[in-house]
Amino acid sequence: MTSTSTSLPKVVSSPAELRAEVGALRRAGRTIGLVPTMGALHAGHLSLVDAAAECDATIVTIFVNPTQFGPSEDFGRYPRTLERDLDLLAPRGVALVFAPSVEAMYPAGHATRVEVDRVSVEWEGRCRPGHFSGVATVVLKLLQLATPDVACFGQKDFQQYLVHKRWA
Ligand code: PAF
Repeated sequence: MTSTSTSLPKVVSSPAELRAEVGALRRAGRTIGLVPTMGALHAGHLSLVDAAAECDATIVTIFVNPTQFGPSEDFGRYPRTLERDLDLLAPRGVALVFAPSVEAMYPAGHATRVEVDRVSVEWEGRCRPGHFSGVATVVLKLLQLATPDVACFGQKDFQQYLVHKRWA
């Protein structure tokens, strides 16, 4: 009889824990794929998780990032569905979920932001000042913590996708 067992991904919430897990994966010679998300996962996210499976281990981050919400945008009401998200990730063999608190990602007194010139300025950038800076800031933090071989981003928000691509 064949059985497919799926276990929930391990969840870590502090940058130190994530770094320790990444270190262990590296020492074991594993390549790492990263899928940054804000949770409330849907089929688009799951297709990114499938794309990241070209690596030995996939890390999905679930973090509703306050710095990409404007004052009139409802950060507080963004859906937070961690248990359901873990259930969706379990059958896909995701090694690890990083679900930090706001304080872990933005400690008191944090003072550094990433600005991606030109591509952040037009279109949505005109009506959402600071939005793409918030996106780029959190993505750079996540890349620094997870040091992935591959990072997978959606193209639904095409301007955001262009911001991700613009690291030079
Ligand atoms: O597209 C998203 O879900 C977010 O903007 C991202 C890239 C995870 C950064 O918070």
